[in-house]
Amino acid sequence: MSNLLLLLAALFLLSWQPTLAAPLSTNSRWIVDESGRRVKLACVNWVTHLEVMVAEGLSKQPLDVISKSIASMGFNCVRFTWPLFLVTDGNLSSLTVRQSFFSLGLNESLSAVEVNNPTLVDLPLLEAYKAVVRNLGDNNIMVILDNHISKPGWCCSNSDGNGFFGDKYFDPDLWVDGLTKMASLFNDTANVIGMSLRNELRGPKQNVNDWYKYMQRGAEAVHAANPNVLVILSGLSFDNDLSFLSNKQVQLSFPSKLVFELHWYAFSNGNAWQSGSPNQVCGSISSSVMRRAGFLVSQGWPLFISEFGIDQRGTNTNDNRYFGCFLGLAAELDVDWALWTLQGSYYLREGVVGMEEFYGSLSYDWSRQRNSSFLQRISTLQSPFQGPGLSAIKPYKVLFHPATGLCVAKKSLSEPLHLGQCDESEAWDYTGQHTLLLKGTTVCLKAAGEGEKVKFGTICSDAASNWELISDSTMHLSTKLTANSSSSLCLDVGSDGRTIVTSTCLCLDRDQTCDPENQWFRIIDSSRPVTSKRSLIDWLFGNLWWNLL
Ligand SMILES: *[C@@H]1O[C@H](CO)[C@@H](O)[C@H](O)[C@H]1NC(C)=O
Ligand SMILES: *[C@@H]1O[C@H](CO)[C@@H](O)[C@H](O)[C@H]1NC(C)=O
Ligand SMILES: *[C@@H]1O[C@H](CO)[C@@H](O)[C@H](O)[C@H]1NC(C)=O
Ligand SMILES: *[C@@H]1O[C@H](CO)[C@@H](O)[C@H](O)[C@H]1NC(C)=O
Repeated sequence: MSNLLLLLAALFLLSWQPTLAAPLSTNSRWIVDESGRRVKLACVNWVTHLEVMVAEGLSKQPLDVISKSIASMGFNCVRFTWPLFLVTDGNLSSLTVRQSFFSLGLNESLSAVEVNNPTLVDLPLLEAYKAVVRNLGDNNIMVILDNHISKPGWCCSNSDGNGFFGDKYFDPDLWVDGLTKMASLFNDTANVIGMSLRNELRGPKQNVNDWYKYMQRGAEAVHAANPNVLVILSGLSFDNDLSFLSNKQVQLSFPSKLVFELHWYAFSNGNAWQSGSPNQVCGSISSSVMRRAGFLVSQGWPLFISEFGIDQRGTNTNDNRYFGCFLGLAAELDVDWALWTLQGSYYLREGVVGMEEFYGSLSYDWSRQRNSSFLQRISTLQSPFQGPGLSAIKPYKVLFHPATGLCVAKKSLSEPLHLGQCDESEAWDYTGQHTLLLKGTTVCLKAAGEGEKVKFGTICSDAASNWELISDSTMHLSTKLTANSSSSLCLDVGSDGRTIVTSTCLCLDRDQTCDPENQWFRIIDSSRPVTSKRSLIDWLFGNLWWNLL
């Protein structure tokens, strides 16, 4: 009997997961929990702001299955959209799920919701929204309530009447009322940790003065109704521009709750990625992102990239070229983020019934992942590299490879350097002399020749151990075999897709058809606990270990 009890207790402990340490607050640029530890938001967007006003996908899978698939893809959070009129227009909020589908003629979806989610189908829309939030909470997933638009429908254009304060569907007073209602509705819901006050401000009426006036008002209203939530503010020009904050900060009556959000897609810059040289475009757009929003991090404000994403079929060159550059910067800044998007399909979008979403992480029928290699690529960004509470003995560097989402690692002394999980990465130092040392040793990385595996050595002052960050993207690690050599070699991944080699540097001449991505590395600060055994041994034995070899 007592053995059985012990077994049950053990099973209970194994299945126990810490409840969300809400409410969250901010400490300089970091979002932290009640004990002061960093919580990195690794969210996915989930849409409820279209005409139906029901979370997408409930016709495809049971709610709990969807929530569990979100967790299994490594996301800890959902940016859950809602249209303002859902809470401010009695004609809409009084509708049940059934009535909403029915009024749009979506009979097939309705029948499928009845099959997959029978307990939701006769709930009022707002109760169905709450049920989704609650179920996400049951699965330990945090939620950010995102006021995406006023009038339910696909977002966003400059002329849709939902763009800025004073537009046809965007009355500031009604907006503040709606935010207040929504904030108080969830004031006892622990997994609701933030509110995005308004998505993608834009259009002919947008201006900085009204931005301060109304965003501050909205923030105060939300905080008064629900002091637990983070208050998340979007910039101008479709949330591409927060540059005005460099001169003047937001003034709020309460501290440690303010977060800024940025959107960054390939198409934010039209067709620039496809029509330019990737090194050059990456360099210039990264600088522009830093000027428009990235600077906030160094000023001590959390930055949440609340929309980014690509066509996950991998067929869009503009998207593909952008994505390596995006991942490099997102890893270096170690920002919070929300991928666009979860839904594999829509009930009804822009007049099309059952439209597929190729940016969606789930397949059309919501039964599986659309592209597991895409998810693998973003997975290393799902946990923090830096921030309060991370426990590495000393901060170190990792060499991050955005094309794969992996890092330069080494399993054993006899094995060549290869790509591996960033959690098992080598810990590096990058010195002022451009030497890449194994942390805590005098052993450095050295080039051996064109197409050759890189090697280690202890003579670290020669040309072959001098690694400079070159090209417009500053993502090529370049070296020379000898000081007199006229040609450079760049760190690269060999033809096995795994082994780290050096080869001729690619695309430095701004060729628009050349793809340098395999040679892109970012040297990133990390304080992740060092998990690999060898790294621990390195640390314990330091130079001795290597000098014995
Ligand atoms: C709600 O419906 C009633 C009756 O159809 C209509 O008169 C009223 O204008 C509607 N309210 C709104 C806010 O659209
Ligand atoms: C939807 O169902 C209603 C009632 O069952 C029916 O009157 C209507 O014709 C159906 N619409 C479509 C498009 O099938
Ligand atoms: C939450 O909001 C409701 C109104 O929706 C209010 O009655 C209640 O007192 C609030 N609770 C807290 C803890 O603020
Ligand atoms: C996943 O994306 C990669 C490129 O990012 C592409 O090569 C591959 O075909 C995609 N897989 C599927 C199943 O779409």
